[in-house]
Amino acid sequence: MLRNKKIILGVCGGIAAYKAIELLRLLTKSGADVHVIMTRAAQEFVAPLTFQTLSSNPVHTELFNLIAEREIGHISLADRADLFIVAPATANIIGKIANGIADDMLTTTVMATKAPVLFAPAMNVNMFTNPIYQENEEKLRRLGYLFEAPISGNLACGWQGEGKLAAPEAIFESALAALTEKDLAGRTILITAGPTREEIDPVRYISNHSSGKMGYALARAARRRGAKVLLVSGPTALDKPCGVSVIAVTSASEMQSEVMAHVAKCDVVIKAAAVADYRPLARNLTKIKKSADSTTIELIKNPDILAGLGALDSGLMPRPFLVGFAAETDALAENAAKKLKEKNLDMIVANDVSQADAGFNVDTNRALLFFRDGSSSQCGLMSKDQLAGSILDHVVARLTQH
Ligand code: CTP
Repeated sequence: MLRNKKIILGVCGGIAAYKAIELLRLLTKSGADVHVIMTRAAQEFVAPLTFQTLSSNPVHTELFNLIAEREIGHISLADRADLFIVAPATANIIGKIANGIADDMLTTTVMATKAPVLFAPAMNVNMFTNPIYQENEEKLRRLGYLFEAPISGNLACGWQGEGKLAAPEAIFESALAALTEKDLAGRTILITAGPTREEIDPVRYISNHSSGKMGYALARAARRRGAKVLLVSGPTALDKPCGVSVIAVTSASEMQSEVMAHVAKCDVVIKAAAVADYRPLARNLTKIKKSADSTTIELIKNPDILAGLGALDSGLMPRPFLVGFAAETDALAENAAKKLKEKNLDMIVANDVSQADAGFNVDTNRALLFFRDGSSSQCGLMSKDQLAGSILDHVVARLTQH
């Protein structure tokens, strides 16, 4: 996701400096070319060699380095950057930048760059709430600098409260967002993800192999592109995506209630969830005891949430742009095209879930996309994050005509 992106990672002196190593790892894993600048204080906490080894680039520590300054190092770094991240950012660095002080390699390069700058502050809670700090942050925000707010928790100084560096994953997500065009700004997108569970009795349920990965990848991608995202999620083991409102549900009927409660304000609904088609006719209030050698559970059909949304255009409510998924093991194209028509969709994403590298519970997928106008598009084997990007490209392209 960050291939061909040059990122400067500024590391300041604080106990959270070691977490910048994890952030660096996430950035390089995504293909970014990362150049690290460390303040003198940062080097007291982590050795530059660690960052140098993991970034495969020399670490910048001195403003007046005879070798690096052959090409005026700080200016050339600042010019070439696509994004500048300062993590952890101390009260000191934020105070300096807010007041135009450039007296070391990091402050000078931040001042010289035209790239977006993302600060991830970390400090003692009293420093964080100090009006001087707050005023500096406010000033920088006003000037267009980005912030990934610290979180609350036990601080290394012994205090409890706000000031803990945001999780490296959250900073990484904000970095991706900073580099993404906001072509879904002003749009509200509802995405469903994961399986549903239909209870048989207090200890058993019917469900399926959906992990929720595709829906969560779509939620992250839509948020990065500027959309307000509501994620109606069945039970999954995944972390809540940053900046997304998650509504947790268990059964298909709970999912239907939440989708219908929010659909009126949505421009797009993407139904990536694997909804159980049937539920037990009656839920036993107590655990069913084993007795006979075989048993039967009578099932009743669940509401088809997507078909209900597709029928909205004839009712009072305007119908959002509808994207369905088709999980198939055979006759992929025929079944998907049939679902597109019968459920009155704008687009359907068809996956062959019988393949080991596509569909349920894996990080990759391959899909065929079909559209209302009869056209189609093929997405070969790719990560679910990449497929989420391609799906949203098609949504954006068609949304203006909807
Ligand atoms: N879907 C839904 N409500 C249901 C069943 C499915 O909203 N009760 C949605 C899914 O979220 C998906 C699409 O309909 O976007 C197709 O789901 P899929 O399981 O592939 O097909 P079904 O319509 O359930 O048909 P079948 O199981 O017979 O293939």
